Amino acid sequence: MAEAAFANLRLERTGGVATVTLDRPKALNALDVATLRELLRVADGLDHEVRALVITGAGKAFSAGADIAAMAAMAPGDGHGYALLGHEVMARIEALEMPVIAAVNGVALGGGLELALACDLIIAADRARLGQPEINLGLVPGFGGSQRLARRIGQSRARELIYLGQAINAEEALRVGLVCRVVPGERLAAEAAELAGELASKAPVALRQAKRATAVAADAELAVGCRYEVETFAATFASDDRVEGLRAFLDKRPPVWKGR
Ligand code: CAA
Repeated sequence: MAEAAFANLRLERTGGVATVTLDRPKALNALDVATLRELLRVADGLDHEVRALVITGAGKAFSAGADIAAMAAMAPGDGHGYALLGHEVMARIEALEMPVIAAVNGVALGGGLELALACDLIIAADRARLGQPEINLGLVPGFGGSQRLARRIGQSRARELIYLGQAINAEEALRVGLVCRVVPGERLAAEAAELAGELASKAPVALRQAKRATAVAADAELAVGCRYEVETFAATFASDDRVEGLRAFLDKRPPVWKGR
């Protein structure tokens, strides 16, 4: 994967793990049109060798959301296109074949939380604050928050956050299941790298199918979801990795995944 130059983010690759660091600290990594387009370029450029992706922020914020100064300069009719672009980015990230970890190093507000919600797993620094404060600006979430937040933590808690526009701290986010781990701020990058490395070491076909199966769980009827699971199980069963995984267990040795 070519590590082309970006203006508002950094892209690094270590083995099977790629890391995107939003890097617009003067605007607390706000997601303006240019940054959203760069995220699309990142998503387009990831190849099969990338087994796990980490998204994090430079400086004190993960992302303070959609760019308020840019939105203030937009015409009334511009909201549609801006929201559509944001949705395109979040949908592309959500649909990536590899697991994506949001390492929330500081505030994840508005579009920033919506970006985290497009990721498979959210881990947070103890100083992080997460929320959908759009209501305080006369807006509603526009990059998927009204839908993905309710699916993650339930309609009642999601409505409370969206209606009141108040952020919650990392501990509370852990308690409601919005994030899955909270670590001291200075540990976050290492924790994300370790978790991504562990994911990257798993059987690639099985991990992809696990992502597909759990993705439909929030939306599908149970019977439909269970049928879908049968298909994902069958796909792993037909893989070389299944042969290797079962053989390695019986031989009492670690498996060597082929990724097919
Ligand atoms: N867009 C653009 N610039 C932003 C920004 C944003 N979302 N958030 C902060 N900034 C800028 C500030 O304007 C400030 O710039 P200047 O130094 O030029 O004045 C700089 O970043 C630092 O911000 P603060 O001085 O406010 O920093 P703080 O530490 O005192 O406060 C904060 C941090 C609580 C995150 C506060 O900046 C804040 O409340 N930001 C707005 C968060 C927000 O409302 N996000 C939702 C945006 S709407 C949205 O996202 C819609 C959608 O779903 C699509």
